[in-house]
Amino acid sequence: MHSVDRTTEQMIRSVLAYAENRLRLDPVPLDRGSRDPAELDLALAGLLGEEGHNPDQVLGVYASMLAPAVLSADSPRFLGFIPAAPTKAALLFDMLISCASIQGISWLEAAGPVHAENQVLRLIADQAGLPATAGGCFVSGGSAANLSALAVAREQAKRARPGVGRWRIVVGSDAHSSIGNTLRLLEMDALVVPTPDHRLTGAAVRAAIDADGDPGTLAGLVATAGTTNAGIIDDLASLAPVAAEHRLWLHVDGAYGGAGLFAPSVRGAYAGLEHADSFVVDPHKWLFAPYDCAALLYRDPALARSVHRQDAGYLDVIHDQPGEWNPTDYAYHLTRRARGMPLWFSLCVHGTRAYAEAIETAIGLARQTAAEIRSRPYLELIREPDLSVVLFRRTGWQPGDYTAWADGLLDDQVAFLPPTTWEGETVGRFAFLHPHTPMDLVRQILDRMAG
Ligand SMILES: Cc1ncc(COP(=O)(O)O)c(C=O)c1O
Repeated sequence: MHSVDRTTEQMIRSVLAYAENRLRLDPVPLDRGSRDPAELDLALAGLLGEEGHNPDQVLGVYASMLAPAVLSADSPRFLGFIPAAPTKAALLFDMLISCASIQGISWLEAAGPVHAENQVLRLIADQAGLPATAGGCFVSGGSAANLSALAVAREQAKRARPGVGRWRIVVGSDAHSSIGNTLRLLEMDALVVPTPDHRLTGAAVRAAIDADGDPGTLAGLVATAGTTNAGIIDDLASLAPVAAEHRLWLHVDGAYGGAGLFAPSVRGAYAGLEHADSFVVDPHKWLFAPYDCAALLYRDPALARSVHRQDAGYLDVIHDQPGEWNPTDYAYHLTRRARGMPLWFSLCVHGTRAYAEAIETAIGLARQTAAEIRSRPYLELIREPDLSVVLFRRTGWQPGDYTAWADGLLDDQVAFLPPTTWEGETVGRFAFLHPHTPMDLVRQILDRMAG
């Protein structure tokens, strides 16, 4: 299993040939994810057992049955949830990192990759306006990053104000679902601030705190830089002073929208982000990295280290290195792959200007789509897009009509575009991200709502 024998040679040829073909797909087909489990059981029958199988046979089952049973988020036709669009460079380098089994746990074990990852984190911190001392690590996703950051927020509050029984965090009503999960796991409660226009503002938070009977139990404030459902950036500039005034840890969740920092046309909307205590952006979303990759940054990484560092006799040695930076100290994890490296490689190959242009392309698609919707009498634009999400309604339609339309689009492999709800109403939603999504596809999708 570990030597380079004839079977290994065979696998290298066939697996790399498969990977090459996948990398050359342009565009990537949409396919569909869900399958009858009985059909999958039949396809996989007998493969897992005491005896091994010919690798080409196993690869054949993967290629014919498993790979097509994936809705490809990197297809330009994937316009639901939050899509993905990893660059070819990032995908290739991800393979290399896997082949070399590159980990990124500690400075002792992997100073080279950790240093390169830190340069990418620095690049993001500079875009966010965070100080030179800011730093962090890459984790698996926005949910893991939110959990790790809010654990630090809670510990920080505990140290500053001992004796509080149960801590609370101020959140807008449009915060991502992972924030609610995080609070449950950390045994904190939410002070939910209603946002009539879905954008959290300093005034709304101030009013909620003023009306609250127990503001001393508030540990932090979560703002969203790009809500998932509508792409709205909270008013960070007005939130930062309120957080400072009430000694609240300011966490900015830019898992989806943080990438907009690289786009000159929307950059101004992030004013105030430079005051964040922690900030998250997911490169596996709009910074064109493969799964799974989220960048987590702290204004004062020493605080994070004091919460997340793991101590054990056998680990003492990793905490005793000159120039040490251990990614494992900055989030809830120990072993980790150097998952920032594909992004590092791709950024070095393409340069940040290409990234800015690709991000602007998705924002441009959202703006053109909004104009297209306004021009059609049977459609209504729900709000002007801040980023790359467009919400709209088809006049007269009931929820079942949206579902039938979306099912038809997927059945015909035109697009994946599930409806969402907005203020209790089922509506249409485009989430743009792939720079190769053509406007003609958008028109075709909207044409299918006419009549
Ligand atoms: C704003 C926001 N926060 C957090 C998350 C969770 O990120 P992940 O799915 O990488 O855990 C998402 C996912 O879409 C998001 O949009």
